[in-house]
Parts: sequence; C-alpha cells; structure tokens
Amino acid sequence: MILVTGAAGFIGSNFVHAWFAAKREPLLNLDRLTYAGNPANLAAVQDDPRYGFVHGDIGDRAAVRELLRHHRPRAVVNFAAESHVDRSIHGPDAFVTTNIVGTFHLLEAVREYWQELPDAERAAFRFLHVSTDEVYGALTPEAPAFRESHAYAPTSPYSASKAASDHLVRAWHHTYGLPVLTTNCSNNYGPYQFPEKLIPLVILHALEGKPLPVYGDGMQVRDWLYVEDHCRAVMRVLEAGRPGEVYNVGGWDERPNLDVVRRICRLLDAARPRLDGSPYETQLAFVPDRPGHDRRYAIDARKIERELGWRPQETFESGLAKTVRWYLEHPDWVEGVTSGAYRSWVTGHYGQGLA
Ligand code: NAD
Ligand code: DAU
Repeated sequence: MILVTGAAGFIGSNFVHAWFAAKREPLLNLDRLTYAGNPANLAAVQDDPRYGFVHGDIGDRAAVRELLRHHRPRAVVNFAAESHVDRSIHGPDAFVTTNIVGTFHLLEAVREYWQELPDAERAAFRFLHVSTDEVYGALTPEAPAFRESHAYAPTSPYSASKAASDHLVRAWHHTYGLPVLTTNCSNNYGPYQFPEKLIPLVILHALEGKPLPVYGDGMQVRDWLYVEDHCRAVMRVLEAGRPGEVYNVGGWDERPNLDVVRRICRLLDAARPRLDGSPYETQLAFVPDRPGHDRRYAIDARKIERELGWRPQETFESGLAKTVRWYLEHPDWVEGVTSGAYRSWVTGHYGQGLA
C-alpha cells in the first residue's frame, strides 16, 4: 500500500480517484483536514475497502512513525501543505509550521521507518514530494521556461516555505540516502479546487453576480495544467522516476490571467447565460495587485517526457470546459465549501465591496 498525505485537498483527492481508477493497490490518506481538506472530495471512495483515512498532522512525528510501522507502506506521497499564496501573505506562520517543520518531521519519521526495512523493501521504497514551479521565482517575458537546474529564487512566504521543504527532501537523499523523488508542477485547475484560487473563484463569483477580481493589470502569466494530468505525472514518477531526481511538470500552456478570466466568462455565457443577457465580462473588476506578485511562470517539461514518456493529455480549452461544467453540475459541493469561514476569507481579503 501507499501512504498519501493531504489527500483530502484539491490535487490529493484527484490523485486518489486517479489511483483507484488505474490500480488495485490500497491507499491510506493522512490529512489534518484544515480549511482546505474536505472529506466530500472523497465521498465516492469512502466505502472502498482499498481506501483508508487517518486524521492527523504530518508534523506529528510520533503519530506518523506509528502509522508507518502499523501499515508498512511501500511509498509515501507528500501533498500535504498550506497552498494559497494570498493566505501566506496574510499569515505566514502556518506555512512555516506545515510546509517546513511538518515536512521535516515527516522526513524524520519516514527515514526511521525506511532504515529498519528489510533490504529488498528498503531498496524499493520511495518518498515522493509534490512541489511547485513557484520555488524558481519569476521569469521575464522572453526568458526560457524553468528547467530542473534553474536556481531557486522564491519570493512569497508560500514559495519560500515550499523551497525550504524541497531543500530538506534533497538533503535527506544526499545525506541519508533516502530514495526521494520531487515533482515541481505549474498551476493546476479542475474539479474539487477550493474557490480561493483564481479559476474556481471566478466561476463562482460570476454565477453569483459578484465582481471578478483581477489583480493589477491582469497580465501576469501562469502555465496551466489540468489536475488529472498532474496526477498521472505523479503516478508515473512514483513508478519509474530515478531516486534523487527532480521532474518539472507543466501544461505547455502559458496564459495571462486576463485571458483566463475572459475564457471562463465566455464558457459561462454559453452554458448559463446571465438573466439580463449581458456577458459575464461586465463583472470584471481590476483590484490592487498581490504584494510581490510574480509576473510569469513557465515550465519546461521535456525531462519528464523524455525519461518517463509523460505529456499532458488535456489542452487548456478542453480542461477549462470540463472544469466549468464540473462546477455547474456540483452545486451541493459548492454549497458545502462556501460556508461562513470561506465567506469571511473573501470579505477579509477582497473587502466588503468585492465579496
Ligand atoms: P490544498 O490546499 O487544496 O490541499 C492541501 C491538503 O493538505 C488539505 O487536505 C489539508 O487539509 C492538508 N494539510 C494541510 N496541512 C496539513 C498537515 N500539517 N498535515 C496533514 N495534512 C495537512 O492544496 P493543493 O492545491 O491540493 O496542493 C497540494 C500540493 O501540491 C501542495 O504541496 C502544493 O504546494 C502542491 N502544488 C499545488 C499546485 C496547485 O496549482 N494547486 C501546483 C503545484 C504544486
Ligand atoms: O504555480 C503553482 C502554484 O499555483 C501552486 O504552487 C499554488 O499552490 C497555487 O495556489 C497556484 O498559485 P497562484 O498564486 O499562481 O494561484 P492563484 O489561483 O492564487 O492565482 C493565479 C493567478 O491569478 C495569480 O497570478 C494571481 C491571480 N489572481 C488570483 C486571485 C485569487 C487574481 O488576479 N485574482 C484573484 O482573485
């Protein structure tokens, strides 16, 4: 079996669904169920005998140690993290606690477990750390996309905390020989994404007739990848990645934010026209920029294609259409996540006028 941390979140829950669609092997989810962890994301597998859930913190070394001894996974996939850049600006503490200190305790518990495994199991064991393209910092418009050898230059509390965790993971390989794999992925979108992130936020604000907040001039560029493609990449790296190696994962699909927001508006114009017949774009609102906002990210994903044969299957057009449809078809899920706590985040962050 494998142990997956943070699998009640956006990418982790998509990973669980992708895993059970492709494999018979059991999967145990360790999740602290923060505001971003949602058991409803995993309702479909709740009664699957191959699925197990443990409510806990990656930073609780003793509990993780016990879990490992008891369940004896052949691999650990670490998705657990605080993941929202804006929240890291408002309150960086949780990012340091989970992303840095939590990863440290997880690595130590895993190292102890791994060192005691019999030879064959020790050789086959893998620790896969899921990271982000944001650790490389920002690119100028003409600069080549990030390769795995790009120097780390994180700029936000979030990306700095992820960069720190990547360094710990790398050091545990170099120093102790722990067979680690790291993936650095670009912006994901798709089902089950918490609506604090751009794409689901814009879909839901549009449907509620609220302003669609675009930071600054809206010309910041992100490289978008449909979440199922990311999950396939993680599975492929776990299966065949070389220990100690880093694999960049991206969609080859760079877009300015304004283009993304306008595309969502057009998809909604067709699928769920506004009652007054005017386009959703009329709700667009330019708002003050995110402090320290990185201008551009882009991933060069040639290494994972060359070595492991992975390429994204969705284009941005096909993935975005699926995503908009998913949010329209899951009003109960939306209702469940847009509770009081979510509303206070939106009001606190964007101000009363935009919430
Ligand atoms: P998310 O915020 O949706 O989910 C995070 C999950 O981790 C939640 O279920 C939460 O409850 C859990 N968690 C948080 N702290 C924990 C702790 N201390 N112990 C156990 N569980 C804990 O995040 P996501 O968007 O699904 O991202 C998952 C991972 O992928 C993160 O490591 C993130 O840095 C990385 N990543 C995300 C993106 C993206 O576009 N969303 C892109 C590249 C990499
Ligand atoms: O690049 C990978 C990263 O992508 C992941 O590591 C992070 O976990 C994930 O949150 C995401 O970070 P971003 O900051 O790029 O995602 P977000 O959806 O918050 O913002 C996408 C872009 O849209 C970014 O340039 C900021 C902008 N934006 C965002 C929000 C929430 C807006 O213009 N308005 C908004 O209201």
